[in-house]
Amino acid sequence: MRTKVLMVCLGNICRSPLAEGILKSKLDKKTILVDSAGTASYHIGKKPDGRSISIAKKYGIDISQQRCRQFTAKDFSEFDIIYAMDRSNYANIVALAENEEQIAKVHLLLQRSNSTHKEVPDPYYGGEDGFEEIYHLIDSACNLIAQEIIHK
Ligand code: 4NP
Repeated sequence: MRTKVLMVCLGNICRSPLAEGILKSKLDKKTILVDSAGTASYHIGKKPDGRSISIAKKYGIDISQQRCRQFTAKDFSEFDIIYAMDRSNYANIVALAENEEQIAKVHLLLQRSNSTHKEVPDPYYGGEDGFEEIYHLIDSACNLIAQEIIHK
């Protein structure tokens, strides 16, 4: 059965759209379903931030067709694993959980990485460099996640 993975950040325009595109690029559709969402409602219906679209394109991934949506409690039943980009996202997701089983589905993305960073920093108010940095943080975590799913 396909593993269903949800990537979550605050706005669903910078980090989680990249995480969705990167993880999708590593596994075929028969193996995995990946989606993304934001805990906030600011940008619902919008495309990813142009800087995320550009950095993804630089590495051969097209995320331009994604559209922002907000995380809802229904996502706990739709998805097997939910990855939060930072601790604040994690707290906002877990606040909507109804039981321990739902809480157990939520992880920090970078727990699945060898990086010293434990959070994917919010790049929204920074420059282009921040997007290069988060691309690599997310990519290394997604390499490990893809291996885990293949060997499951
Ligand atoms: P994201 O970045 O959570 O990685 O999508 C942000 C996008 C928008 C805002 C904050 C962070 N905002 O305040 O509008």
